Amino acid sequence: MKFFNREREINEILRILNREPDDIYFIYGPLNSGKTALINHIINNELKKSNKKYAVFYVNFREYDISSMDNFVEALFEIDENSKEKTIKSYIESFTKSVNDIINLYYGIKVPEPILNKLFGEKEKGRLVFKFIRDLFMSLNKKGVQPVFILDELQMIKDIVMNGKKPLLKSLFQFLVSLTKERHIAHCLCLSSDSLFIEYVYNTGELEGRAKYLLVDDFDKETALKFMDFLAIEENINLTNEDKELIYSYVGGKAKDIKYVVEESTFKDLREVLDFMLNDEISKLDMFLEVLDYSKPKIEIGNKVIEIKKEDIIKALKLFKDEYEVNKKDISLPVYVYLVKKNILFLNPQKGILKPQSFLIWNAIKKLV
Ligand SMILES: Nc1ncnc2c1ncn2[C@@H]1O[C@H](COP(=O)(O)OP(=O)(O)O)[C@@H](O)[C@H]1O
Ligand SMILES: [Mg+2]
Repeated sequence: MKFFNREREINEILRILNREPDDIYFIYGPLNSGKTALINHIINNELKKSNKKYAVFYVNFREYDISSMDNFVEALFEIDENSKEKTIKSYIESFTKSVNDIINLYYGIKVPEPILNKLFGEKEKGRLVFKFIRDLFMSLNKKGVQPVFILDELQMIKDIVMNGKKPLLKSLFQFLVSLTKERHIAHCLCLSSDSLFIEYVYNTGELEGRAKYLLVDDFDKETALKFMDFLAIEENINLTNEDKELIYSYVGGKAKDIKYVVEESTFKDLREVLDFMLNDEISKLDMFLEVLDYSKPKIEIGNKVIEIKKEDIIKALKLFKDEYEVNKKDISLPVYVYLVKKNILFLNPQKGILKPQSFLIWNAIKKLV
């Protein structure tokens, strides 16, 4: 895949990775806006322009079904088939020795099987895991290699409890704070499409002054049109200005949707492709609204269970008939939480703004309510 633009975001992240680690970074944005593509492009192509040595550890929690501490540990680590080291200390030493390139990229943290078994077997699950990673990062630092720890789709672990009591997320955040603010040994980038998760992190205060937030949004109109030109060249097709305006009016600046439309239009009629996508979105939203006649959705806020009424949902969606963005204060908390959970709305917690997860959903809302 050829990567397009995102210059501003690339430069910002490169600047962060060039400095001494000091904050945890939360990179958030609507579904399919291009967060994973961006971070992968940076670690594969851009980072080498820097004059530092890096060891990047990328973990994507979306690739696993995580429902326990064991699953979490499985997702974090990757078995190192080539090592025969038996103790943590000797393994970290030999691993550090093997890190010699300018950019060293790992999908998961490497560990020999016997040591992984030790991490699984420990009684206080998690403690040794964090200690292992910290010692590894410290050892890399001593060699002049900067570790970068990337946790993609971090919200997948939000319900995991450690040792039957403490939420994993709390311990993980403490750990990430120790890697950044306290010891300055590793960059920590957490990616998430779940805006309620980001709002939770943003508002709990737990990370006050220790975390920063970076929005990777859908493209604005000007950039979206340029992205279409970029893809048209890739696909060797011609798109007129009217074609591009038409595409934008259906799918807006959502990278994934634009890419899909342009690729499909190489062998299908453009309008047909777009109408098919929109009709699909309309059917889904219609179904969602129809189901509300029968099921009474409930949402838990604090420890109160609140029932959501269909008429309140319709009222909230009506606000988007003329506006793409709405102040979150204009919709009651349980209603917007429900709509965000259902991936109909996206919440920007920094600005306190709600918008449809995509232009397609926006168009479906305008058709149906
Ligand atoms: N800057 C870009 N250049 C080219 N393609 C992109 C770009 N950003 C996103 N895409 C395309 O959109 C798809 C969805 O992006 P992704 O990074 O998976 O979204 P997110 O992680 O935000 O949910 C990618 O698979 C890729 O094909
Ligand atoms: Mg992603």
